[in-house]
Amino acid sequence: MKWTRELSYKHYDQWSHEELCEIEKRVNQSPWRANYHIEPSTGLLNDPNGFCYFNGTWIVFYQHFPFGATHGLKSWVQLKSDDLVHFSPTGLKILPDTKFDSHGAYSGSALQIKDNLFIFYTGNVRDRQWKRHTYQLGALIDKQGHLKKLKTPLINQPMDTTDHFRDPQIFMYHNQYYAVIGAQTIKRQGTIQLYKSHENDYGTWEKVGELDFSNDYTSYMIECPNLVFVDQVPVLIYCPQGLDKDVCSYKNIYPNVYKIGSSFIPEKSRITSISQPQLLDWGFDIYATQAFNTEDNRVLAISWIGLPDTSYPTDRYNYQGILSLVKELRIKDGKLYQYPVSSIKELRVSQKPLCNIAQTNNCYELEVHLQANSTNVITLFADEDGKGLTLTFDIKHNSVKVDRSGVGEEFAKEYGSTRTCFIDNQATTVNIFIDNSVFEMFINKGEKVFSGRVFPYSRHNGITTNGNITGTYYELDYGYKT
Ligand code: FRU
Repeated sequence: MKWTRELSYKHYDQWSHEELCEIEKRVNQSPWRANYHIEPSTGLLNDPNGFCYFNGTWIVFYQHFPFGATHGLKSWVQLKSDDLVHFSPTGLKILPDTKFDSHGAYSGSALQIKDNLFIFYTGNVRDRQWKRHTYQLGALIDKQGHLKKLKTPLINQPMDTTDHFRDPQIFMYHNQYYAVIGAQTIKRQGTIQLYKSHENDYGTWEKVGELDFSNDYTSYMIECPNLVFVDQVPVLIYCPQGLDKDVCSYKNIYPNVYKIGSSFIPEKSRITSISQPQLLDWGFDIYATQAFNTEDNRVLAISWIGLPDTSYPTDRYNYQGILSLVKELRIKDGKLYQYPVSSIKELRVSQKPLCNIAQTNNCYELEVHLQANSTNVITLFADEDGKGLTLTFDIKHNSVKVDRSGVGEEFAKEYGSTRTCFIDNQATTVNIFIDNSVFEMFINKGEKVFSGRVFPYSRHNGITTNGNITGTYYELDYGYKT
């Protein structure tokens, strides 16, 4: 299908039931649907939004264009979960149906305020000349699940940014509500703006200032900023588009990075003694990670495994995009660790010692133990010739390399098909989650993470190992579908 502007922004109620059934039929022909990751039933999924805990359940939304694999008219789709592993859609959506979000209910966050869930999101509007207007909007969801949009914008575009001003993240710090918003300065540099709620609720917001996080000012736009506190330590997560590769080396089209600070001084709009930006994920496809502080003082994060301005082989099946597992963030020895929540173990249905396996159902977890001073190679999605997703652990040189060129249908080749990173500690344990067309690999329980998509042909379903590898193969529940 050729995605013209008219078609991408055709109003939701102008798509017929028959058209939607046809789209869905095509999606269901895909050989690459995942089993335990969140995917859209049709169309394109991008950022996770509104990740929170409310009224006794975990909630996450995703950005959605329902009618095909393109970034068209966006809405939010809500899912809930009791265990952060099994998510199901609730039917609640935030649709682009007012004059302030007519061209997209764009990304944002959620937080319980009094008895309601407050949604803070960006309304995207295009005028007749297709000029963009951006509004930071609010909505309330009550405990019965009724959504009410606030009538007027909460924040308008400030003088010192362009119309690229979006993705508010609300958070509480020392009993005060704040929000960070991603933006582009009028000099076309990426920036983050800090706002404070005036009466300490959701209704009125005042600007504190541009957030001072030792911005290198090499990006042209910052999307999806999140400020969280891991054991009181401020961690800033964001997507600086166009970031200079000398500031932080990356191969993906756009990076998702984090900085660890020492303290957050809201009155000065500053995070002190902050690190250089570091990649959140060393793989191929992580973007728009959203994180929040839970009431029991954990920090949970979830990412889009997918990148903007990128085509995926699923596009021809009328869908694109998937969310990562829910990861818990911790800081150990000054370093950020990310690891799936412990309830992920509930997906395990059987286990056996890791060995070469000619055929799997590509729905498993491996826990691998590596020997010191050795080089170990594991190939997943392996075909009979041993071609697949090749993981090389060169323990002596503390390096890990992932090569996806051997598995199935290649894509985004202009950004290379290998990724490498160095591990500070010798790699000893590796946990890898495979779900048909997704891999998420956690080294040393989350010291470094590699995530990405692969699109295997049917012959790509084996595991081969070489070197002194021991470990466990856990078959995961593939009867479960979101
Ligand atoms: C990031 C992003 C956000 C925006 C949303 C629109 O992927 O571009 O900045 O709010 O996607 O879908």
